[in-house]
Order: sequence, then C-alpha cells, then structure tokens
Amino acid sequence: MAETSLASRLQGTGAHALELDDVARHFGALVALTGINMRIAAGERRAVLGSNGAGKTTLFNAVTGDFLPTAGRIRFFGEDITDLPPHERIRRGLRRTYQISQLFNGLSVLNSVYLACKGVSRRRFSLLRPSISDVNMQQAESILHAVHLDRERDVLVATLSHGQQRQLEIALALAGAPRLILFDEPAAGLSPAERRDLVAILNGLPRHIGYVIIEHDLDVALRVSEHVSMMHNGRIFKEGTPDEIENDPQVQEIYLGGRHG
Ligand SMILES: Nc1ncnc2c1ncn2[C@@H]1O[C@H](COP(=O)(O)OP(=O)(O)O)[C@@H](O)[C@H]1O
Ligand SMILES: [Mg+2]
Repeated sequence: MAETSLASRLQGTGAHALELDDVARHFGALVALTGINMRIAAGERRAVLGSNGAGKTTLFNAVTGDFLPTAGRIRFFGEDITDLPPHERIRRGLRRTYQISQLFNGLSVLNSVYLACKGVSRRRFSLLRPSISDVNMQQAESILHAVHLDRERDVLVATLSHGQQRQLEIALALAGAPRLILFDEPAAGLSPAERRDLVAILNGLPRHIGYVIIEHDLDVALRVSEHVSMMHNGRIFKEGTPDEIENDPQVQEIYLGGRHG
C-alpha cells in the first residue's frame, strides 16, 4: 500500500514543484493573503520580495501547513496538499528553515545533521552510535561540505557563531531528500562576508533542489534567484527575472526610496 501511494505521488513529478490557486489567508478581519496565484517549476529558484507585513511569511505558512489558507488550493509536484498536516508535507520533500532548536545544543555539528538525516530516512530520532559506513553519516558529511561547515564538524552546536548557526539551519533543511526548500530571510543578522558565503552556498546547492527565498537584501535575493515575485498588501503585484526586477522603476522607488538598503 505504501508503494501504491508513492507511485501515485510520483505521477506528479512532471508537474510544477508548487502551484497556488487563488490562495487567501485571513486573520479575523485582516486580509494577510489574497488572490495568490503562483507557479514554481521543479528545481526553480524563486525570490519573494516585499515590505514588512506584505504577507511573505504567511505565504510560507500556507505552503508548509503551519497555518492553513482560508481559501484556495496548493499543489506540490501535482499533488493537492492544501489540507495535509506539516509532517506529511515534509515527508513529500518540502522543507523550511527553522531556528535551531535547543535540542541540538549539546550535540556536535556533524551529529546534529546526522540525526536529522536519520530522522527523515527512518522516521524516528534515536541516539544510536553512528558508524562510519552509515549512509546517513555520509549524507551528513556531504551536507556539511555543501554549507561550508566542514571545519566545524566536531564543534558543539551551542558554540557556533550566529552566521554558522544559520548555515546549520540550511544543513538541517537539506537532510533527507528535499525537493523544495523555503528560506525565510536567511541573511538576517549576517555580516557582509557571511552574506557572500550564503550566496555561494545557495548557488552551489544541487540543481534538482528548488527553493523559495524571502529576502530583504536585494543584493542577496537577486543573485540567488531565477525569478522574483513582488508582494504588497497580501498580493503579488509583479513577477520577473532579477534583471527585470532590478530595473523596474516601481521596485527602485520601493527599495531605493525606502528603508531597505
Ligand atoms: N498569526 C497571526 N495572527 C494575526 N495576524 C497575523 C498573523 N501572522 C501574520 N499576521 C498579519 O498578517 C500580515 C502579513 O504578515 P507576514 O506574513 O508576517 O508579513 P511579512 O512576512 O511579509 O512581513 C501582517 O499584517 C501580520 O500582522
Ligand atoms: Mg516575514
């Protein structure tokens, strides 16, 4: 039976990674999202820009299932996931970055990523002693390489710098078999050097992994994306390539005239 449901899920492989049809989210009288129609191709890298309160994080919450939309449908690789709980979406390869939980503070960087790999692949968390031949350990090592944390592998998570913790958050999202990752302001609080590192890490991710990135820093957002969606007042008002967005008079007014530096 598990195989049947897997086969039916894979039928959607040729479809878009993400399709949103007329998605809305209200909080009481407040319209946080309305009329959201979005198509994100498999493997695509999309930036979502917009001022504070535009609805960007609410959009992510609707996609991950943390807050269900009040209207509309959401499909993930062809499958309607609108009403699925968050863990069922994770199981299908949808990820978002979360602040690192306290749970990991007493662990080394390598072991925390190892546990995340093991948890996703075996659907349980246990503190069994890892062996070097363990496929999860090999995946954990390659993930650490991908996020530029090779040298920190044996360091305790609690002692990482802020920037390194953000890199570890990306590592945890890469555990298992992600197909689409949602990054909510990954450059927040990073130094210029750490931002450059983040751009290199995102651009170096395996091509089959798509992502959507919410990012205030235009320099970061336009350098790590292929398409950009601009949000305001719960709506998407413009989409284009990074070039088109950068040269758009309306966007220039918002970003150069506003508080976004
Ligand atoms: N859980 C919530 N309860 C009530 N209002 C919310 C909640 N989450 C977000 N909002 C409101 O929805 C709007 C969009 O918020 P958000 O999606 O966080 O914007 P952004 O991430 O673009 O800054 C804001 O007006 C915000 O106050
Ligand atoms: Mg937000």
